[in-house]
Amino acid sequence: MPDDNAHTEQPYDFRLSDYARDIETLEHPQDHLAEKVATTRYERSADGAIYLYRHEDILKLNRHPAILGNGGRGSMVPGMPLVPLEIDGDDHVKWRKILDPLFAPKQVARLESTIRELTAELVDCFAHDTSVEMYSQFCVPLPCIAFLRLFGAPVDDLGFFLEYKNDMLRPECDTPEENVEKMQGAALRIAAYFIDILQKRREEKPGDDVLWALLQAEFDGEPLTDAQLLSIIMLMMFAGLDTVTASLSLMIHWLAQHPDERQRVIAEPTLMRGLVEELLRYESPVQTGTRYAAEGVDLGDGLVIEKGEAILASWGTANLDPNAHPNPLTVDIDRPRHQHIAFASGTHRCLGSNLARLELRVALEELHKRMPNYSLQPGEAIQWVNMPVRTIEYLPLVIGG
Ligand code: HEM
Repeated sequence: MPDDNAHTEQPYDFRLSDYARDIETLEHPQDHLAEKVATTRYERSADGAIYLYRHEDILKLNRHPAILGNGGRGSMVPGMPLVPLEIDGDDHVKWRKILDPLFAPKQVARLESTIRELTAELVDCFAHDTSVEMYSQFCVPLPCIAFLRLFGAPVDDLGFFLEYKNDMLRPECDTPEENVEKMQGAALRIAAYFIDILQKRREEKPGDDVLWALLQAEFDGEPLTDAQLLSIIMLMMFAGLDTVTASLSLMIHWLAQHPDERQRVIAEPTLMRGLVEELLRYESPVQTGTRYAAEGVDLGDGLVIEKGEAILASWGTANLDPNAHPNPLTVDIDRPRHQHIAFASGTHRCLGSNLARLELRVALEELHKRMPNYSLQPGEAIQWVNMPVRTIEYLPLVIGG
């Protein structure tokens, strides 16, 4: 466990880090990040954290028992840690035993036909037009609607979720304290809404959605409390919406600029999985993770992390590390082994990676069935935001051609 001093310090806010500032709105942060990892193993930044860049170091870090996750200096909402992201130790293991089966490949594969239908409905709204703004018309709604269906929540409440998610992920305040306050406000608003949904679901017939499964689950032999259920629901919204939206925007942008590769995956659909993996590696939509050292941790060859230190682990640079990925700046659909850490690794590895992979693959397959030809709208400025999640927030396309 962390020592008491570490708990009294403020959580490290990576949004205000030097790392975030350096890549803020770059179209190709990969050039800067690849240069960084090729030349620098780690740095102690003036913002109070040690930055780790290399694939091998980060793999070691993420499975080290003395390394704590995001909650290592307390949770974003005091007294209500987000499960499982802000939990560590034995309790984290217990939570993952409950949650992992709900997001196992077989479980999420059952959603495939629903995701195909949702994609078809969305694409049919614009496929016959001459242009479309993909971010708002496709990348945002698709994962949100899919997510609400997964949870058995009303799809009509989409607007409410989008607002909450934005306040949680992008408080955009000037100080860490203001950011935390805004995020907490959003969390309280949504809590009241979900207490109501949970009550209704307890009175309903069994379903096959995640919410129903959570209502049947037990932690230490007891049914989950409303506080535990809320914490899980809120984290999954916060972790599972913007990330897929961001990945879709980046992938469609890349495919719009690479018509030969696009035609190749259309002609050979089995290549789509490889394309999704390779673009996750190259883009690293979630750039960094925060970790804390409960004890001094020796990563070898002179790199010792001090007890209590905050760590910014860069999945973005690790995925461009030439020692793990030869020719890291080349997007190679045929890259033989995909060992990227876009979903992190070790203890806090992404719970929803199977769902995310399914959503991305199926969304692109169905998009291409209805709209195989598209390109970037000439003369329009694309908007890049690289932190907290690398996203293209305005993506106008010309359809056809
Ligand atoms: C392409 C989309 C996604 C990417 C790139 C992504 C990436 C990540 C990363 C990097 C982490 C580690 C965070 C950290 O420890 O700092 C993480 C954790 C997590 N993700 Fe995802 N994620 C994606 C989609 C999803 C989806 C769809 C869900 C929900 C169903 C989800 C649920 C979670 C949860 C619950 C955790 C915390 C796991 C733990 O602490 O044990 N993610 N994700």
